[in-house]
Amino acid sequence: MIPHAVWERNQTGSSARLHRSAPEFGPGAGDRYAGGMVKPQSVDEVAVALAEHDYLADIGLATSVFLALTLERPLFLEGEAGVGKTEVAKVLSRWTGGELIRLQCHEGIDSGQAVYEWDYARQLLHLRTAEATGRANDASADQLEAELYDPRFLIRRPLLHALSPTDGPRPILLIDEVDRSDDEFEAFLLEALSDYTITIPEIGTIRADRPPIVILTSNRTRDVHDALKRRCLYHWVEHPTFEREVEIVKMRAPGVSDALARQVSAMTEAMRGYGLYKPPGIAETIDWSLSLAALGRMELDDDTVSATLGTVLKYREDQAKINERGIHEMVKAALFKGGTGIDPPRVAAP
Ligand SMILES: Nc1ncnc2c1ncn2[C@@H]1O[C@H](COP(=O)(O)OP(=O)(O)O)[C@@H](O)[C@H]1O
Ligand SMILES: [Mg+2]
Repeated sequence: MIPHAVWERNQTGSSARLHRSAPEFGPGAGDRYAGGMVKPQSVDEVAVALAEHDYLADIGLATSVFLALTLERPLFLEGEAGVGKTEVAKVLSRWTGGELIRLQCHEGIDSGQAVYEWDYARQLLHLRTAEATGRANDASADQLEAELYDPRFLIRRPLLHALSPTDGPRPILLIDEVDRSDDEFEAFLLEALSDYTITIPEIGTIRADRPPIVILTSNRTRDVHDALKRRCLYHWVEHPTFEREVEIVKMRAPGVSDALARQVSAMTEAMRGYGLYKPPGIAETIDWSLSLAALGRMELDDDTVSATLGTVLKYREDQAKINERGIHEMVKAALFKGGTGIDPPRVAAP
């Protein structure tokens, strides 16, 4: 059964009040951390460890991370931009001490950018040097060619790097925004992730002795194929609840007053319901809170919200939509939800 105490603490209390109930990862840790394999005992333990490394996960996400670590399966995280998908890989690296290896996907990405490439410039230089020193005359063509495919001329891209043997904790392989790549690249990833091997014709097959911890993310600009998803555990990352977002702001922006953190979180939460082209993510809530604090504000007011709207909404059309809705009413609602105790406002439904 999943213990719930930590969720209640996550929802209502400060992360500083969370206590680790499991041994530290690293030297001197228990047997289950031996050999760089992270094997938490419970979902609770995962949530506490993530919180201690500045990430507040809800029960669904912590359960997925627990299962991904326990079953050693890649974790596919899908959700709107700014909900904290990429940060999961970063926090796993902070927690486990494993190196974070990031493969940023983009249109047209190919295996040369993802796995390896031969360094043609250095290979050519090697040949020129052999010619200049007269060694090219002595060595056979086969011998010269073999020299060219020496591992020192190999440029290791993220996938090869992540599958190469290492001492210490398992690396964290972040395959970020996989929805931006194309079908062929997806098929290629599927193959690489099914047996954690990569074949380089000139050198041979490289097999990870311990598979990396793999996190794939997608902003769902298009659907990723079922075959790749089937290979992974899947979790849809939602925007945080109001209380959790307040806790995240307080954790990430400690100089921000409690009232301001609550009011800004209330305001961004409301904005997400207005059908904007780019609804604000957690990063925007944090940035906005920091900006308002930098301006010396302890609470929201209409003029400051108008002047700083560009911190949270990056499209002119979205700003216009919010202005049409009426900033005054929205601020009033945010102040109410944030806990200043003024009369409940009436805001027209979106
Ligand atoms: N659950 C969380 N706990 C703490 N910080 C978070 C959380 N989710 C998101 N953040 C913050 O929001 C920022 C944006 O998250 P990110 O992972 O880049 O979003 P995504 O990859 O989903 O677009 C991160 O830098 C991090 O500071
Ligand atoms: Mg991201």
